[in-house]
Amino acid sequence: MNSIEPSFDRYTSGTLRDRVFAALRSAGVNPQAFKPAELREADHFHTGGLQATSFVANSLELGAGTRVLDVGAGLGGPARCFAMRGALVTGVDITAEFVDLARELDANCALDRSITMLRRPGHDTGLADASFDAAVLMHVGMNLADKPSVFAEVWRLLRPGAVFGIYDLMGTNNLSYPMPWAERAEASFVESAADYAGALADAGFAVTGQVERTVEVLEVLEVLEQMRGALTAGFDPLATPLVLREDGPAAMANLSAAITSRQLVPRLMLASKPGDRPA
Ligand SMILES: C[S@@+](CC[C@H](N)C(=O)[O-])C[C@H]1O[C@@H](n2cnc3c(N)ncnc32)[C@H](O)[C@@H]1O
Repeated sequence: MNSIEPSFDRYTSGTLRDRVFAALRSAGVNPQAFKPAELREADHFHTGGLQATSFVANSLELGAGTRVLDVGAGLGGPARCFAMRGALVTGVDITAEFVDLARELDANCALDRSITMLRRPGHDTGLADASFDAAVLMHVGMNLADKPSVFAEVWRLLRPGAVFGIYDLMGTNNLSYPMPWAERAEASFVESAADYAGALADAGFAVTGQVERTVEVLEVLEVLEQMRGALTAGFDPLATPLVLREDGPAAMANLSAAITSRQLVPRLMLASKPGDRPA
């Protein structure tokens, strides 16, 4: 394990557990024993939220017994969603606060036997060769300066015939900041769909499809904006990712503008590791 890999300052607040537990209690939910759906949008830290997570799960046909690797699993909202479909999920993430809280939430949802959360970097997981049927990487690429090393690790971990779904914001890095994943351009690594496809091919994957999600994502962002306008003071804390920092409103405004202008395109890129599933 690479234990010296630093957590992301951008994602570390020290207050997330308190905020998540307080939000659950304010919704009348017991944080010690609850259903994953009761966290609603709070633990899905990507554009399109829970709806996008379901789209990824359906596209990759994640179901009962699928061994899923979630690279950059965050607070574990997607992992719990996959586990509710019967998948066996291993999530890796470098942000200690997320990994610790994800484990606690998994246990409090009685999903800790279906999900293993590890504090490891995506390029060096220490996991066994060919041990997964599917991998996902959701809104992590914008933090990855070296995508090829992560794609090479995912290739190693997947069995022949396995699928890899990348749901990222693709486009240009020349944007107005802050963005939810970075305060400034130097800490952001947005790349084009062509760059992703090239890096996947170089790692040995066959790119099998791409789906743009701009319309769906803008609908979700618009609903959030309307709710914010209607509620301002008492804005429903479970309606949007709870990890957003103090600059959250500015980051969300920049994000909406960049998606509307198509500088950023929310896109699911599908790839597979060539070969037949071992008997
Ligand atoms: C925007 S969040 C997305 C979290 C989650 N995939 C989701 O959709 O809810 C990006 C996540 O990637 C993680 N991350 C960034 N770089 C990473 C790396 N090199 N290895 C593992 N995790 C990483 C961050 O700690 C953070 O949890």
